[in-house]
Amino acid sequence: MSTSVPPPASAASPESTTTTTAVIDLDLPGPRISRHVYGHFAEHLGRCIYGGFWVGEDSDVPNVRGIRSDVVDALRALQIPNLRWPGGCFADDYHWRDGIGPRDQRPRMVNSHWGDVVEDNSFGTHEFMDLCELLGAEPYVSGNVGSGSVAEMSDWVEYLTRADDSPMAALRRANGRDEPWRVPFWGLGNEAWGCGGNLRAEQFASLARQYATYSRNHGGNILYRIAAGADSGDLHWTEALMRSFDDLAADPAAPAGPFQAVSLHYYTMSGSWGDKGDATGFSTDEWYTTMARAHRMEELLTRHSTVMDRYDPHRKVGLVVDEWGTWWNVEKGTNPGFLYQQNTLRDALVASTHLDAFHRHAERVVMANIAQTVNVLQAMILTDPDTGALVLTPTYHVFAMNAGHHDAAALAVHLRGVQTRVVDGAELPLVSASASVKDDAALVSLSNLDTETDRTVVLDLRGRDVVGHDARVLTASALDAHNTPQQRDAVAPRPHAGVRPHARGLEVDVPAHSYVTVSLGLR
Ligand code: AHR
Repeated sequence: MSTSVPPPASAASPESTTTTTAVIDLDLPGPRISRHVYGHFAEHLGRCIYGGFWVGEDSDVPNVRGIRSDVVDALRALQIPNLRWPGGCFADDYHWRDGIGPRDQRPRMVNSHWGDVVEDNSFGTHEFMDLCELLGAEPYVSGNVGSGSVAEMSDWVEYLTRADDSPMAALRRANGRDEPWRVPFWGLGNEAWGCGGNLRAEQFASLARQYATYSRNHGGNILYRIAAGADSGDLHWTEALMRSFDDLAADPAAPAGPFQAVSLHYYTMSGSWGDKGDATGFSTDEWYTTMARAHRMEELLTRHSTVMDRYDPHRKVGLVVDEWGTWWNVEKGTNPGFLYQQNTLRDALVASTHLDAFHRHAERVVMANIAQTVNVLQAMILTDPDTGALVLTPTYHVFAMNAGHHDAAALAVHLRGVQTRVVDGAELPLVSASASVKDDAALVSLSNLDTETDRTVVLDLRGRDVVGHDARVLTASALDAHNTPQQRDAVAPRPHAGVRPHARGLEVDVPAHSYVTVSLGLR
């Protein structure tokens, strides 16, 4: 872990302050922002499951039935709505029967995608469902299409969700769990265009229909089936999946089937897949390249939604961004297959701008899962492999600051006077914003992506009376500031005094490279 990297850039010069106006009609609530866009992802990859969530019952690290208590507590505080498991690429290599029954008798396998290590399957179905119950999160299970079978997937659903004395329900009982679990979200494969089988779009679309058909609803457990979707800008993949539906336009009341959603994966990096850029010690140019690439999520959502609208005018089919976030070169000295990376203020602003985009597309984006929760890619939590010490990342704090958006109604934010910067030939807006309202409270999120210029954002608040406000700011002097066991709060939200009454509402200081949330009390 890098703790002593020279900061690549410093804070704003005080003379450079500009004003942006954000017009918000508080009385015009839009579509609901599903809390599930604040979802998470945990793969059998590096130290995410093993060491991150699972330490085993005999560990010195405090645990409940083998699951780390400090990690559970931190994620409960975020109110994480769902957790996707067991992959990722791992999902299409995973055979669920290897992960049930007495732990010391479970077969081993090679985790060929991630470090080529031997997986002992000590964390399996029962452990995952226990974890979800401890977290108060809804399970999102990714089934194996790549190397599995229709029958294997069908049996897993039955094992998890069936109440009577069916063969799979009986097997579950023999393994110590009497009651069926509730599993709302079911993934049909992962990256079927790549690690999930290198399939063609049309070929996978047919498979998705078939696997979805045999992933049955048992009793009252109604599955929301999510077909493995496109890689970033691959509109053809989305189109092939949408075309595979029977006429979605015909009957507005008829639910979509045999699957209900398609996914989308997009990762942000400052370099290329060969050299993704470092998590710390980056240049100002790399900062802006990163922000421009993060901003691309807005365009991707617009383009994939446009394709979906063509086939699905009633918006029955959900778009699930079940992998997103930053992907940097691994930290020096760590296993290249474990994808362990630091998490800085830059990651925080990548997260805040993605979440703004999800809010703006709330009518189509029903769920999203940042990759990945602990110790892998853009994590919420990093744990020290030697001491076990836990650190909350800047990204964690963005999720915490945004909790008020969960299940709130999106509010349109019309920005005026936003400065832009040309990055790789395209204009990058230097302010990102979103807002929502729930009952008598609204939340406004403001990101200033500029490395140097402080901004004032005038909130032009219309339609309802504002009777109180409270603001928080997340920033640091160095662009690559991050938290470590020695300095846990180098990047942590602080109360923000820079909010003043204004003739049109409020005036908010948004320092250079900062994230600010303003909670409003409404009448
Ligand atoms: O999140 C890491 C990997 O990225 C996942 O396993 C895969 O789906 C994607 O390529």
